[in-house]
Amino acid sequence: MFITLEGVDGAGKSSHLGWLETWFKARGRRVRMTREPGGTPVGEKLRELVLHEAMHAETEALIMFAARREHIEQVIRPALADGEVVISDRFTDASFAYQCGGRGLPEARLAELENWVHADLQPDITLLFDLAPEIAALRMATTRAPDRFEREKSDFHNRVRAAYLRRAEQFPGRIRVIDGSCELDQVRRQLATVLESLA
Ligand SMILES: Nc1ncnc2c1ncn2[C@@H]1O[C@H](COP(=O)(O)OP(=O)(O)OP(=O)(O)O)[C@@H](O)[C@H]1O
Ligand SMILES: [Mg+2]
Repeated sequence: MFITLEGVDGAGKSSHLGWLETWFKARGRRVRMTREPGGTPVGEKLRELVLHEAMHAETEALIMFAARREHIEQVIRPALADGEVVISDRFTDASFAYQCGGRGLPEARLAELENWVHADLQPDITLLFDLAPEIAALRMATTRAPDRFEREKSDFHNRVRAAYLRRAEQFPGRIRVIDGSCELDQVRRQLATVLESLA
């Protein structure tokens, strides 16, 4: 099973990684936790570049998919073939949300890259943490130095959120929207409901 976590910066994805891992392990599953951009040695170098160096929006999109190509080859496919549950903190929905919604690249361009890099692989389930970017920014304010994406204006983040929600409408079976505005234990309750529905 291939599970991805999506949402605007600070929506709460990483806060639930440990809980998700424990949920599956408690049910006897082996779990592979990973993230994008990154997840491999080459991918982590590309992550550093793309999060901190100014570049053209298409360069950014291409780097995301270059890192993804490596990630699929080295981590995702082998782990799935080995029967593991793969949980990735972000995947291709993030490219559509950030590079198309946020940066304005045409979706057809990204669809070509998606088709090139993983035509025959999609997440089984995507947990979309939905939260107003202003609230997410407040939550993040004290915790870390912002990267290139996190420094973008609120318009950018609102477009990213809207693009994610459009994806959810487009793929209602795969993408489950989680209300990220509530307290941690209520978010967990929503996650548990989705996971139990998969069994
Ligand atoms: N339900 C919640 N209620 C209050 N605060 C929360 C909640 N969920 C997460 N937080 C806090 O919000 C901040 C951002 O959460 P987190 O790092 O999980 O977001 P993220 O989606 O992984 O962000 P990024 O995309 O930047 O990695 C953290 O300080 C976290 O403790
Ligand atoms: Mg995170």
